[in-house]
Amino acid sequence: MLIKFPKASDCQESEVTPASIYFSRRALLGGSMAALAAAGLPRLAAAAEPSRYAGAAADGAPAWFKDKLAATQWQAMTVAGEAITPFKDASSYNNYYEFGADKGDPAANASGMKTEPWTVVVDGEVGKPGRYALEDFIKPYQLQERIYRMRCVEAWSMVIPWLGFPLADLLKQVQPTSKAKYIRFETLQDPKVMPGMRSDFALIQWPYIEGLRLDEAMNPLTLLAVGMYGQQLPNQNGAPLRLVVPWKYGFKGVKSIVRISLVEEQPQTTWQNIAPDEYGFFANVNPTVDHPRWTQARERRLPSGLFSPNVRDTLMFNGYGEEVASLYSGMDLRKNY
Ligand code: MTE
Repeated sequence: MLIKFPKASDCQESEVTPASIYFSRRALLGGSMAALAAAGLPRLAAAAEPSRYAGAAADGAPAWFKDKLAATQWQAMTVAGEAITPFKDASSYNNYYEFGADKGDPAANASGMKTEPWTVVVDGEVGKPGRYALEDFIKPYQLQERIYRMRCVEAWSMVIPWLGFPLADLLKQVQPTSKAKYIRFETLQDPKVMPGMRSDFALIQWPYIEGLRLDEAMNPLTLLAVGMYGQQLPNQNGAPLRLVVPWKYGFKGVKSIVRISLVEEQPQTTWQNIAPDEYGFFANVNPTVDHPRWTQARERRLPSGLFSPNVRDTLMFNGYGEEVASLYSGMDLRKNY
């Protein structure tokens, strides 16, 4: 299966990118500093990596990330005609229950999580299991920027420019055995720095677990992300490594991954454990299958407010049907929600 990379005619960069970003990006790609000055545009700082996106902090990234950034394939995939959600919204309206249940809690509480050094274990049904320092884990892969829609099961959505590499590239490297049918992901479990884990009210059994069928994991859209908005992932968004599966509800996008296991049986996932009638294993975005307590036919695109609710119709497979519908041919998506 091929990803449909946009032709120049499909999408103008200025269509998907707010003006401030468009101009700073053009400045980076093209004209000389002198030409910029002549055009009256501000000079870019020479020392630090300039921010491509308004409001996204440019400093503090480790050396391995800066090296990767230099060779990144920018805008490898885009969303035609839909504005990118401002960084401010994507990094302050979060679900990361280890840090609290309110949308502002992860941004308020996650700064204490140490993401360096970080170890990722790959185990289970693989020819080449391993325990890697993150910088070694990332080493073989070129980063790509993928601008994807993200649709939460709670009926809000965003458009986010991720930086990552296809999970399929990792799987080719670690060589799943013939017994491997699913992939299971596990998040960091550190109650000392994660106040949500210490709460008496938490219904969640930690660590947070997610999973995919192997063919879903191999789909070229499935991404392991280390950054967003041209920068390292903020802690509240799942630093230093998270999963992004754009045709599925956001809860499949497990954050701060410490273990990736290839397994024979379908893994039992966090939200299935909590409410199996409401959250299934597949969790494909589907406007025709409602959540038992609300409709999934529409979504609120952030930023949204009382006077501009910014509501739009939800698309089957979040608009990625061409790339993924064949994974589910013959399946009853009402039963396999
Ligand atoms: N990963 C972990 N470890 N813990 C969580 O609570 N929440 C999920 C997912 N990944 C979650 C998680 C849910 S419900 C959503 S919608 C997305 O992360 C939100 O990602 P964002 O905060 O970057 O928008």
